[in-house]
Amino acid sequence: MMRGYIFDLDGVIVDTAKYHFKAWQSLAKKVGVSFDEAQNEQLKGVSRVKSLEKILAWGNTTVSDDEFVSLMASKNEEYLEFIAEMDESEILPNVTEILQLLKSKGHPIALGSASKNAKIILERVNLLHMFDVLVDGNSVTTAKPDPEVFLKAAQGLGVKPDDCVVFEDSVAGVQAANTGGMISVGVGSPDVLSEADVVVKDFTELNEQFLENLRK
Ligand code: BG6
Ligand code: MG
Repeated sequence: MMRGYIFDLDGVIVDTAKYHFKAWQSLAKKVGVSFDEAQNEQLKGVSRVKSLEKILAWGNTTVSDDEFVSLMASKNEEYLEFIAEMDESEILPNVTEILQLLKSKGHPIALGSASKNAKIILERVNLLHMFDVLVDGNSVTTAKPDPEVFLKAAQGLGVKPDDCVVFEDSVAGVQAANTGGMISVGVGSPDVLSEADVVVKDFTELNEQFLENLRK
C-alpha cells in the first residue's frame, strides 16, 4: 500500500492567517464592526462566505445580499494584494523538505483547502509542481468539517481514504479528516486540536520515521 498525503494550505504550508486578518479587519471597519486576533482564530479553516457571516454576527449587523457579495469581493481584492507580495520565504519551516521526502519515496500528494486562492498562493511560493492533485474552494460544495474536500483529494490520488494522511491546522479540518476516515495530523496546539490522531507544533517535528509510524 502506498500512502497518499493531503495538505491543507493556510496555516499548514504558509501562514496566510495574518493577511486574511488584515483584509477582514479593514472590511469590518467599513461596516462598523471591530474584531480582534482571538476572534480571528475562529475564522481559520472557515470559508469566505461563512467568515463574513460570522463577522457580521459579531457586530450584530446585517447587510443586503448585494452588499454581502460586494463586501466579499472587496475583502478578496485586498487579500490578493497581500498574496501578490508572497514568495518562497513564507513557506513554513520544513514543509518543502517534507514534500521533497514524500515525493522521493513516490507518495502521491494532494492539496485539500477551503481557499479559492489556493492555486495562486502555491504558484507564488513556487510549490505548485509538488502537488499531483488540487482540491480547493472552487471544487467543493460543502465546507469542512464536511469531508468532501479530502474525499475528493483521496479519489484524485487514487488512494483509499484510510490510506491517506491529512495535515490540518483547524478544528473543522481535523474533524473533516476524521469523518473521512483518514489519519489526521494536527499542526498547532494540542489543546485546540485534541481530536487529531496526533498533533505536532510544526513540520520540524516530522521526519521519515514519524510518518511511517503514523496510525489511526
Ligand atoms: C481557509 C482559511 O483555508 O480558506 C480561511 O483558513 C479562509 O481563513 C478560507 O477564509 C477561504 O479562503 P479564500 O482564499 O477563498 O477567501
Ligand atoms: Mg488551515
